[in-house]
Amino acid sequence: MDWPGVIEYYREFLPVSSRTPIITLKEGNTPLIPSRYLGNLLGKRFQVYFKYEGLNPTGSFKDRGMTMAVSKACEEKAEAIICASTGNTSASAACYAARAGIKCFVLVPRGYIALGKLSQALVHGAKVLEIEGNFDVCLEMVREITQKYPITLVNSLNPYRIEGQKTASFEICDTLGEAPDFQIMPVGNAGNITAYWKGYKEYYANRKIKSLPRMVGFQAEGAAPIVKKKIIAHPRTIATAIRIGNPASWKKAEQARDESGGVIDMVSDRQIIYAYKLLAQHEGIFVEPASAASVAGLLKLVKMGYFKTRKLNKPITKIVCILTGQGLKDPALVMKAISKPKRISANFRKIVNELGY
Ligand code: F0G
Repeated sequence: MDWPGVIEYYREFLPVSSRTPIITLKEGNTPLIPSRYLGNLLGKRFQVYFKYEGLNPTGSFKDRGMTMAVSKACEEKAEAIICASTGNTSASAACYAARAGIKCFVLVPRGYIALGKLSQALVHGAKVLEIEGNFDVCLEMVREITQKYPITLVNSLNPYRIEGQKTASFEICDTLGEAPDFQIMPVGNAGNITAYWKGYKEYYANRKIKSLPRMVGFQAEGAAPIVKKKIIAHPRTIATAIRIGNPASWKKAEQARDESGGVIDMVSDRQIIYAYKLLAQHEGIFVEPASAASVAGLLKLVKMGYFKTRKLNKPITKIVCILTGQGLKDPALVMKAISKPKRISANFRKIVNELGY
């Protein structure tokens, strides 16, 4: 089958009509990859899967929401879109705006955007402004701009973004034939956890699944406003994608956690890097650091005995970790956090020695 993109495939669940021009790059339909390494750590009663969202057209889950937001913006005859971003939203917005033939403006925190993401926004022709301030400041600015000027906001405050992103939970259920028992994901501005939970609830209401997952979110320790129950004025983390101190969908993330009986917790940068390496070196999956927060979180939960204290009355417990973005977006981190290649002269003996022969 030729995959038509998330809007056509899940049309009955989305607010589109025959008047909506569908702007798509055939996003979605990303693989649900069974773990070969982590699963063993948990034992036979557990199955761990990775939803690899890095395989979307611009390398992150944002494309699911952006196809909806930009299609609706075009239906409403918008001439320009704008977003604040830690990188991925801007890459996706710029890309879909180019596809639609409309203008795109982007506000990003100066110095805290991975080079791959910045390059994407630029190459797709967006007007990129680097702001002396963090993501939360950028978001405040774009909110004010869109109140005063005819530019469509495409951050996840735009409800169409959430509508598009919820299709990822549909795909997980369609692949597994049921909902997972636990879903673990990174949390930044908290739009994605909101979207997944909405998707699961809609599938449940439509009797496509018989149970709902527990929603488990992880923030970075230095940027964990939901866990610490207070706004973080100066968020800090190596995972720049989730370097956010005042998430727009804060309340909705708490709602997803509480309605599902899940948890929102935090992991340190050290734990994120450990999981980042583990995914790359034992699972063969290269993700960006923010995405590794979900696996760092899973390891933390296992260590805490979290799964032992939950009633698991099915023979097999299914856990899905969302890997939100592609590792190639932030290659500089590899050189910083993992290692640099070794320099050596073009001498046969020296090279062979170095290889350990
Ligand atoms: N993972 C990645 C790779 C992200 O880019 C983001 C958010 C998240 C996780 C968190 O998702 O914000 O819905 O809770 N990136 C936004 C951006 C903020 O501007 O690209 P969230």
